[in-house]
Formats: sequence, structure tokens, C-alpha cells
Amino acid sequence: MEILCKKYHILTYGCQMNIHESEKIAGILESMGYVYSESENDADVIVFNTCCIRENAEQKAEGNIGALKQLKKKNKNLIIAVCGCMTQQKGKADALIKKFPFIDIVFGTHNLENFKSLLILKSAQKKAVISVLDKEGEIIEGTPKKRTSFPNAWVNINYGCNNFCTYCIVPYVRGRERSRKAEDIVNECRQLIKDGYKEITLLGQNVNSYGKDLNKEDFSDLLEQVASIDGKFRLRFMTNHPKDLSPKLIETIKNNPKICHSIHLPVQSGSDRILKLMNRHYTREDYFNKVEMLKNGISDIAITTDVMVGFPTEDEGDFNDTFDLMKKVGFSGAFIFIYSKREGTPAAKMDGQVDEKIATERIMKLLEFQNEFNRNQSLKYVGKTIEILCEGYDEKKGKYLGRDEYGRMAYFDGEKDDIGKFIDVKIISSGGISLFGEKV
Ligand code: 5AD
Ligand code: SF4
Repeated sequence: MEILCKKYHILTYGCQMNIHESEKIAGILESMGYVYSESENDADVIVFNTCCIRENAEQKAEGNIGALKQLKKKNKNLIIAVCGCMTQQKGKADALIKKFPFIDIVFGTHNLENFKSLLILKSAQKKAVISVLDKEGEIIEGTPKKRTSFPNAWVNINYGCNNFCTYCIVPYVRGRERSRKAEDIVNECRQLIKDGYKEITLLGQNVNSYGKDLNKEDFSDLLEQVASIDGKFRLRFMTNHPKDLSPKLIETIKNNPKICHSIHLPVQSGSDRILKLMNRHYTREDYFNKVEMLKNGISDIAITTDVMVGFPTEDEGDFNDTFDLMKKVGFSGAFIFIYSKREGTPAAKMDGQVDEKIATERIMKLLEFQNEFNRNQSLKYVGKTIEILCEGYDEKKGKYLGRDEYGRMAYFDGEKDDIGKFIDVKIISSGGISLFGEKV
């Protein structure tokens, strides 16, 4: 079925994984003749790609779905589809339809490739189409993609997670770990470089366990293969589980200049007692050892992290251990969250849920520290020249922007042609985590 000149709009919540999945949904819609619309007001199809990792992500999506009721009243032919992690939760699809009877399609993360057939099905029936599979199936290759983050391209390497950290809903909504074949990944990357992309970010919930289900290449082997593709580009990857960070990976980063000296290594907590309750399989000592191993192997490595406060039973002592770890490591960047209770996870049943006010006080302390640390790090850049990859134009600042290999953002006066190019920028000043400079 070809539908010509109809418009679509996608709202994406959550992580890079979701951003990339929206690129696949957009690819499917464009292969059917739909064109992208900046606004939801004149769209014929609106897709909500949701996240449920924390309660506020879910609330935000539900609030925005609710707001569409008026639009649906105005345009009876409007199709509203909801997909992503939120829909994979037990009973959620039916609950969504009950709460928002104007939703037309609900589909899950395991079968987004079927979106085209769901749209066709919906055009033939009045009632809502619900298609959420309990179990992950075979990996489906060849889904069209409408990439939206040039000069960076996201590339999935493995899906799902087997770790079952006790706070986390991901293993329940994304299923077990499964890896794409190295050959498929490398071919995709080679084509991307041919098409002019200058940065590839390999994606997985835990990239370090890539290949364990295939018994062929491990993650380091895969990185090496991608890094050996001809042409100048940057290679990044995320996310890493500290327990699986190997000396072999550090060697691979060190020996391949295209792999950025930057790694995201979520620590979550600096307290051994909490790490154990979280089922993280490492101690703070182990984490310090991994950081040391990284810094010894790659002296200029930039380490970023995720930290959580307010996990059940976290007391002042546990919090201080986390604070102390952050001070000792000195992260180049940190995403700091308040623990959010997720039904169905072991932590939701734990006694000792932490008062919201205390958790807020704790997060404020960490944010204040990290912001100050970022400011001081930025100051050290002033006067230096860095190579950035220009990503685009920032309307608000009226400047072009790009990142260096360590992930540091720099703004400068440039031109449209700079987008997608490597440019040397001399840093003149800094503000918070951002740098400001001029082309040299
Ligand atoms: N509450 C708060 N933060 C969470 N994360 C995962 N689950 C939760 C939760 N229930 C955070 C972790 C993870 C990041 C992607 O999100 O820090 O590393
Ligand atoms: Fe969630 Fe832990 Fe898996 Fe990360 S490693 S996705 S935090 S269960």
C-alpha cells in the first residue's frame, strides 16, 4: 500500500536506543511515502516512542498523549501510535487504551519492524490495534532508517540485558541479550562512512557482553573490525558495565586511533552495601581498580558515569561513600538520578524506601559538586586548541557547535558548510560545561 504525501510526527522519550528506534520508525513511514512534519498539528500519523526507566519519563509521555485528545477530535483520520519500553510492561497496553481510548495502535519494542503491517491493519479496522509481544524474537535486519543525527550515526550491536540490576526495568521490557552478527554491523558501518558519516556510536545496554551469545567475535574484536574501516571517523560506544570492562578492551582502545578516548562507565553507587543490594557484581574497590586500569592504559581517557541516590535503605554513610567516590574519580561528566520505584523490579519490594526530600537533598549536593567540577575542567581548556566534529547550529546561542573526542562541547562562529567537518577550534572562554572558541 502506498500512501502519498501524508505527514508523520514522532515524539521520542528516553535514551539513544530510543532515538535510534525512532529513526527506524521514521524509515518505515518514509518507505510508505509519508513525509516528516515538524509539528504534530498537521500530522496524519503521530508516534509516541516512550521510555519507562523512571516514573517521570512515563508521566511525561502520558501527559503528552492526553493532550492529543483535542487534535484527534479535529482530525478524525489522525492515527496515534504508542510504542517503546512503556508499552512492554505487563498490562500496560490495555491500560493505555482504557485511559486514552483515542489511541489507534500500541506496539512493543520486540516488533517495531512490523509497524507498516500494523498501520495497514488499522486502516482496515475500527478498533485499536494492539501488538505487544512478550518475548523477543530473532533480530530482524534491513529495516529502513531515516537518520537524524548526522554526522553521528547510531548503530545497534546488541539488544536486551541479562544483568537484572534490582532497580532496573530494562531486562523486563527489552528482553534477553542478543547480538547482531559482526558482519551485519561492519557492513552497516562501512556504508555509513561511504555515505559521509564521521562518527559512529555503537549501542547496547551492555556493549561489553556483545557476542557472548554468538561465540565468535567479542566486543573488542568487533571494535577492531569497525575501526579498521577506511576513512577518517570517530568511533564511540555505550553503555559499559564495570564488571565486564576487560584489559583487552583497554588495549583495543589504545591501539586504534579512531576509537575515542572516552568511556561511559555507570557506577550507580559508591557504597558496597548498596552495590550489593543493586546486584551490580562489583565493589567500590573493584570500580577504583577499573578506573586505574583505564587511566594507566590510556592516560587521557575521559570517564563519564551514571549515579543514583535514594536507593532503598541508602543512609547518610552510603551517600557519603558515593560522594567520596565521585570526588576521588573526578568524572568528566555524570548523569545523576533519584531512584525511581519501578513495579515488577526486586527493589520495588524492598523495605526502607528513602524519603523524597532526603533524596532531593542528596542529588542537589552531587549536582552542585559535579557542576563545580565541570566548570573547573572547562577553565583548563581556555587557551588550548581542540579538534571538534561540527554537529550543527545552536539557534539560541547563534553559534555552531561540536564535540572533541572526549565529548566536550564547544561553540564557535562558523558556517553551514562546517557541519560534518573536523575543525580546529581555539578555546577563548568557558561557561559551565560548555566551551566557546574560534576557528583557527
Ligand atoms: N531509577 C532511577 N534511575 C534509574 N536508572 C535505571 N533504572 C533506574 C531507576 N529505577 C538509571 C541508571 C542507569 C541509567 C540509564 O538510568 O543510572 O545507568
Ligand atoms: Fe538496567 Fe543494569 Fe541492564 Fe543497565 S546493566 S540496563 S542498569 S539491568
